[in-house]
Amino acid sequence: MTDVVVSTRGLTRQFGTNTAVNDLDLEIRTGQIYGFLGPNGCGKTTTLRMLTGLLTPTSGSISVLGRSMPEAAEPLKNEIGYMTQIFSYYRDLTVLENLRFAAEIYGIPAKAAKDRIDELLHTYDLITNVNQLSGSMSGGQRQKLALAATILHRPKLLFLDEPTSAVDPETRRTFWEQLFDLVDQGATMIVSTHFMDEAERCHRLAILQHGVKKADGSPRQLMNDLQADVVEVEGPDLRKVKHELDGRPKILSTAQVGSRLRVLVDKAEPQPVDMLRARLEGFSDLSLTPQRPNLEDVFVSATRGEDQ
Ligand SMILES: Nc1ncnc2c1ncn2[C@@H]1O[C@H](COP(=O)(O)OP(=O)(O)OP(=O)(O)O)[C@@H](O)[C@H]1O
Ligand SMILES: [Mg+2]
Repeated sequence: MTDVVVSTRGLTRQFGTNTAVNDLDLEIRTGQIYGFLGPNGCGKTTTLRMLTGLLTPTSGSISVLGRSMPEAAEPLKNEIGYMTQIFSYYRDLTVLENLRFAAEIYGIPAKAAKDRIDELLHTYDLITNVNQLSGSMSGGQRQKLALAATILHRPKLLFLDEPTSAVDPETRRTFWEQLFDLVDQGATMIVSTHFMDEAERCHRLAILQHGVKKADGSPRQLMNDLQADVVEVEGPDLRKVKHELDGRPKILSTAQVGSRLRVLVDKAEPQPVDMLRARLEGFSDLSLTPQRPNLEDVFVSATRGEDQ
């Protein structure tokens, strides 16, 4: 078997006239955390539902762990864990009851289930919540329960749909450390997100917009390959500076970040700072500084020119 665990060719899903996922080619290798980065409605959940066999594509093919989806959804059930975007466990069951229920669904024998549940309660710091109704837990605690339940049967392939959208940055950090522990133990993951910091942690990611893959690569590669230079402008009247630059030739985007204006200039311009200085000659006291691109610049550049 090759080390490609998930691949798609021409994956497409339509809902009526709306093409939610459009001609998507993916190749996800073992041991990777692969991210889908994109705004609301770009097709992340629809893609994950097709990859896990819950939704049938309109056209295109899907291979998961060497088997064809959705046909192999049932035989692959024990190899896959899917953490849905909306908490999908029982709010009127306790943490322990939910985990026992998940263990039953996966047919884990009672003694093995007890040991595994004890281990997960410990790993995910849920011991004190064990008899709490999951509906009364905080968002962060619920995420931990959902992750524990998703990996109860030790799947080698995990699909996580916006796993940290409801949690604070500290909890998100801890959660990601736990994901890397799972990768270290041999898991491969596909994670959807609209957070740049989360996307930056992935080994590789696809930027999606309107169901179309706009870019694909490691975060570093995407930043290195950016077809733009980044210049930050600091000084008074930044709103007027922005107005002066927006829509001009070779200006790909402008965005104010605190007291600075971050400007993306087309890579075809050989002297971005000089060009901007000339364009802004009517303004005084501006300082212009080249910056290294970040993932948000990549995202803006990749999805430019279309409604979000
Ligand atoms: N069952 C469905 N019936 C009709 N349209 C659907 C259905 N599921 C998704 N869509 C549409 O497909 C598009 C993609 O939706 P999807 O839920 O995959 O986006 P998403 O990237 O997960 O968004 P979010 O970040 O808000 O979760 C949207 O336009 C949505 O309205
Ligand atoms: Mg979604």
